[in-house]
Amino acid sequence: MKAQNTTMKAVHVNGYGSTEHISIKQLKKPIAKDNEIIIKNFAATVTRADTMMLSGKPYFARLIIGLRRPKHPIPGTGYSGVIESVGKNVSLFNVGDLVFGETIFNFSANAEYIAIKESEVILHKPGFLTDDEAATVGDGPVTSYNFLKLIGNIKPGQKVLINGASGALGTAAVQIAKSFGAEVTGVCSSKNIPLVKNLGADHVIPYDIKSFEKSDEDYDLIFDTVGKSSYSLCKSILKTNGQYLSPVLNGRLLFDMFWTRLAGKKKAKFAATGTKKPKDINHIYQQLIKIYEQFEMKTIIDKTYPIEEAKSAHEYVNKGHKVGNIVIQLNR
Ligand SMILES: NC(=O)c1ccc[n+]([C@@H]2O[C@H](COP(=O)([O-])OP(=O)(O)OC[C@H]3O[C@@H](n4cnc5c(N)ncnc54)[C@H](OP(=O)(O)O)[C@@H]3O)[C@@H](O)[C@H]2O)c1
Repeated sequence: MKAQNTTMKAVHVNGYGSTEHISIKQLKKPIAKDNEIIIKNFAATVTRADTMMLSGKPYFARLIIGLRRPKHPIPGTGYSGVIESVGKNVSLFNVGDLVFGETIFNFSANAEYIAIKESEVILHKPGFLTDDEAATVGDGPVTSYNFLKLIGNIKPGQKVLINGASGALGTAAVQIAKSFGAEVTGVCSSKNIPLVKNLGADHVIPYDIKSFEKSDEDYDLIFDTVGKSSYSLCKSILKTNGQYLSPVLNGRLLFDMFWTRLAGKKKAKFAATGTKKPKDINHIYQQLIKIYEQFEMKTIIDKTYPIEEAKSAHEYVNKGHKVGNIVIQLNR
């Protein structure tokens, strides 16, 4: 009889600081508890959430991810793979199902096997997404849908500006905003203009040549995906009821959110998408699957790495200049 392999290769982080704490280890393979699913993982993302997990910054994030070191020592949130085993109380999924999703604050996706509860973020993978593409959905697309549709209430014909249009959030946001019928302006560096135009942006402003905040245009929504601008810099180019949305929290944004909530028609808004209930995130995934299919939404993948080179993948993401997404390929 063939002996069962009880270990797996995984990326391991043993403290906050930088990528020096990363190593590739042979760890115990998870075993399904009654309500759990074990996924043989084919693709996992490396995202800016991992930058936070590796650095332990901003410090308040440690209340969730672990005070002295990461509570979950394996990084990575997005995954795509095949179900290897299920616990006895799992009813919605079966062995052999192709699935994808995200582990959010439980991280642990940069590993050959993942354990996830069926009540968490897990969906059947549509055939038109490859594993590499499917693993990325939980980062840029889910976050951008949350900000543009659920927070910004984007409408057809609105003028929408996406700052950081070449990142994971930006490349998804440009396409999602177009799918809602908006007139989209993307802000990126000169070298990424062809990419952002190709994603469907109607206008592109290269940030290395011109500050978009000095534009003569005004916008219904400004989605500052990289948090490099601010509400006060954007206020003069927001329409009367315009909104400045950013997924990057800092003291200035907190202040602007507070005051714009109390007074005035223009608003500044932030949200942490990962704090939504899994059923609400699953719902966003379902809406996105329709957008991928109807609008032939593209996934931009900058680089892929084998798990053995995961440290280089995390170092690259930490620099803040990736184009779209980074994927670790496993079990291939
Ligand atoms: N709140 C939430 O729910 C949530 C969820 C997910 C992510 N996030 C946050 O969202 C942020 C964006 O993540 P990301 O993965 O999309 O991107 P990223 O890795 O932070 O940024 C990548 C892109 O930003 C561009 N960029 C760099 N400086 C810029 C500038 N000054 N102006 C315009 N573009 C610039 C880079 O292009 P060049 O190389 O050409 O400069 C690169 O293509 C991160 O801070 C992440 O933590 C928040």
